[in-house]
Amino acid sequence: MVLVCLLAYYGREGTFILPSLNRKRVSAVAIRGKSLISPDDFTVEELQQVVTTANEMMDTGIDSYGDLCKGKILATLFYEPSTRTRLSFETAMLRMGGSVLGFGDANTSSVSKGESIADTARVISYYADVAVMRHPKEGAPKLAAQYATIPFINGGDGGHQHPTQTLTDLVTIARYKGDLAQQVVAFCGDLKFGRTVHSLIRTLARMQVKKFVLISPEELTLPTHLYREVQAKGVPMEVTTCLEEVIPEVDVLYMTRIQRERFFNEADYQRLKDTYILDARKMEGAKRDMIVMHPLPRVNEIAYEIDDDPRAIYFKQSECGVYARMALMALQLGVM
Ligand code: NCD
Repeated sequence: MVLVCLLAYYGREGTFILPSLNRKRVSAVAIRGKSLISPDDFTVEELQQVVTTANEMMDTGIDSYGDLCKGKILATLFYEPSTRTRLSFETAMLRMGGSVLGFGDANTSSVSKGESIADTARVISYYADVAVMRHPKEGAPKLAAQYATIPFINGGDGGHQHPTQTLTDLVTIARYKGDLAQQVVAFCGDLKFGRTVHSLIRTLARMQVKKFVLISPEELTLPTHLYREVQAKGVPMEVTTCLEEVIPEVDVLYMTRIQRERFFNEADYQRLKDTYILDARKMEGAKRDMIVMHPLPRVNEIAYEIDDDPRAIYFKQSECGVYARMALMALQLGVM
């Protein structure tokens, strides 16, 4: 009987369904020790494992994990400004009983003396158990991970990738919308430079959502290589410049800021910055159960009057980010 039960939980290709977490399939290849530089570094099952763990942590309550990472140290290496990513990583580790060291301004580190990423990564490996790096140069966290002997996490590299924002977004969608296959997901704003969009769209394509709607000015459309990648996954895509026209069919509206720091000239930014402003009038055309997400910071693309609309969940999304990072680090450190 015991053997039958065990077999019932053992699936194909070495996957294992934990009885207590009946929604998830856990890959036999553990997340323990793994770096996360691009969402593609994790299988769909591994991504789901982080999402399910984060949602369970959220259900149980933050106070239940105070000893999980006792004695563990997180290094935060931020070469580019950050509020949510750095602080949510820090609070995630502190909430699990661990400690944090690092810098939020590269000028206070030896980088200002010319130290290479590779050397920094080697040294940090002796000081911490897990590290998160944000860098303006695309590929910098990947290089660091190659030299580090601890799991490295990409906290955003230039206009490239932002995998832990993707985990945050997946936790949020799972929590507030449910089944991905039923969702029409719209991305609105700067799809050219927005790394949160780049990471999320390719991940949702792997996970097979119902449809994508891409809303941007013509100068800020999704890069062609990404468009082709998503297209190859077979998810239908609609491209438009007009938010009002498509909003009635959308289930998840992912607003983004125009990425001023990635523009070559200020005049172009000024011309494009207010292309999309989501306000109460536009929300009238949306479904009653649509959710509005935003990785934040918002500049002007969501009017403050929307904040009280129950469909606006961007602050709850920030809360999900803490649990996503707790789950990720706990699994990487092998304490769960
Ligand atoms: C995003 C980022 O840094 O890419 N912010 C975040 O991490 N929550 C989005 C942005 O800066 O527009």
